[in-house]
Amino acid sequence: MNKLVVANWKQNFNVSEASHFMHRLQESTVKVKNVDVVICPSFVALHPLYRQIDHHKFKLGSQAIHAQDSSPATGEVGAPMLRGLVSYAIVGHSYRRAHFNVTDKDVGQKVASCIRSSIVPIICIGENALERAEGRTNQVIKSQLDAALSSVTTEDLKDVVITSEPVWAISTSKNHKEPLPDDITGSIAIIRNILTDRYGAKAAKNTTVLYGGSVNDSNARDYAVLDGVDGFLVGGASLDHNKFAKIINSVQNISET
Ligand code: PGA
Repeated sequence: MNKLVVANWKQNFNVSEASHFMHRLQESTVKVKNVDVVICPSFVALHPLYRQIDHHKFKLGSQAIHAQDSSPATGEVGAPMLRGLVSYAIVGHSYRRAHFNVTDKDVGQKVASCIRSSIVPIICIGENALERAEGRTNQVIKSQLDAALSSVTTEDLKDVVITSEPVWAISTSKNHKEPLPDDITGSIAIIRNILTDRYGAKAAKNTTVLYGGSVNDSNARDYAVLDGVDGFLVGGASLDHNKFAKIINSVQNISET
């Protein structure tokens, strides 16, 4: 199974900046082997980048997606509109859960909508600082994951990616903290245990589980070797093509050893 590295550009880069970034990244990653690299720009940059990128090296993803295939939701973008343009969609990112009222139930519907349109959902799961301080990490991960996977069958699961992304570890969170290796392996183990209960040990082992939250070019190598980590979802450090290329290389080097 290839490792996966995802760039979440958030609300950054206009079309020409996005295009410039991809030119530079394509130069600095001459070969991408054993790693799938996904770029999630803003909606406006998706089509220009689709025309520009080397599709053998890079895939595109959206940063969000609407829960319904089509609806009166003015300004929203649904999975059927993105079909063929993106291979992945980030679903349930903590920013959207916190600021756009995305509920656990919505996340389940978004995942189902992605699957209907052959888009791989990258489901973000994670507790915030308060939930962690109250010792509720396990419970939060379980309720978010159960809702996200409510309509996902064992057959669907191979086209689903799960990201362990503790909100307190995201670089832009207030008082954010870099996670310790045990934090990362601990949350990923919780996720795999829930997957094992729902789908069995084999399916759980074969599911791609990423880590996200303050991944950068200095810690990627250390995090990439941790048990159960199949790759990264990278925010801030994905905005610098040199740093992002180094992160891709760290994951690639691990896959080659
Ligand atoms: P970060 O963001 O890498 O800047 O912590 C990750 C994310 O929010 O997806």
